[in-house]
Amino acid sequence: MSAEPLPDPLSVTVRAPAKINLFLGVGRARPDGFHPLETLYQAVSLYDDVTVTSADEWSVRTVSDDPHVDLAGVPEDEDNIAVRAGKALVTHHGVDRAAAIEIRKGIPVAGGMAGGSADAAATLLALDRLWNLQTSDEDLLALAAGLGSDVPFALVGGTAHGTGRGEVVTPVEDNGTWWWVVVFNEIGLPTPTVYAAFDVGEYAEDEIGIDEPRYKMLREADPDTMALLVRNDLEDPAFDLRKDLERTAEQILTCGATTALLSGSGPTLLGAARDAAHAREIVARLAELGHENVMVANGPVAGAHVVSYN
Ligand code: C5P
Repeated sequence: MSAEPLPDPLSVTVRAPAKINLFLGVGRARPDGFHPLETLYQAVSLYDDVTVTSADEWSVRTVSDDPHVDLAGVPEDEDNIAVRAGKALVTHHGVDRAAAIEIRKGIPVAGGMAGGSADAAATLLALDRLWNLQTSDEDLLALAAGLGSDVPFALVGGTAHGTGRGEVVTPVEDNGTWWWVVVFNEIGLPTPTVYAAFDVGEYAEDEIGIDEPRYKMLREADPDTMALLVRNDLEDPAFDLRKDLERTAEQILTCGATTALLSGSGPTLLGAARDAAHAREIVARLAELGHENVMVANGPVAGAHVVSYN
């Protein structure tokens, strides 16, 4: 008896995580304008869910039930990175297909947590499964790298070393569950602006590599060592542009975080906590200082993965 082939799914939903950079060493700009990076990425428990359905033409719609997420500024046309991801995938396979993409956002927009990159990664994976394209992991990672420096990491997740312009990703051993207080900021801070301030301020250091003791700290997973592990070379240029962020970082420390850190190129700030209870305590203290737009997240979590297949 031969089994009937399974029909294609009507829709596929993929969940992709936000990222933070525990370590972000930035070198002098390359001839192509990008900066060489040595980074330790960690995927954290804020997510975007991307649902794709076959359609006659490309479309994208962004929704959120999260009061922390402001959707203003997310393009609803073909400039959206999710649509660009879909088009890159069909071009790669030489097929003539299109999809309606719905993005349910839980990652702050333009916050330095790679929300757009998560959407691109999720769209690649969701369309691959929707249309059973059987794209190899290698090809998915290459397509992801073509879309943005952080997109390959959104596929991989966990904790990983990133190099090149951030797109060459290798998983690293991380035995911790690290707790973060995530302090959002309504005023955007475009990534290219922060890199430009980095250049103008001549912040590049000769040594941007990650030393072995930092890898050991991840393996040994003692939350009190996080302050020694973190580094973000974009922090000083971002603080030059935005003194308010520097003040908030100081307040995060005053409220008891073991360390405070800019997330990527900002403007989101992070406070490290020893455990969930400690994180909630920091959130309560920040609220007393008037910081209401704050969440708790932990990492590492998984990279882009299918959560529903209908
Ligand atoms: O690759 P992605 O689209 O995320 O980069 C956005 C911008 O951030 C780039 O246009 C560039 O200005 C800056 N960038 C950089 N060096 C990197 C990554 C990003 O200068 N390694």
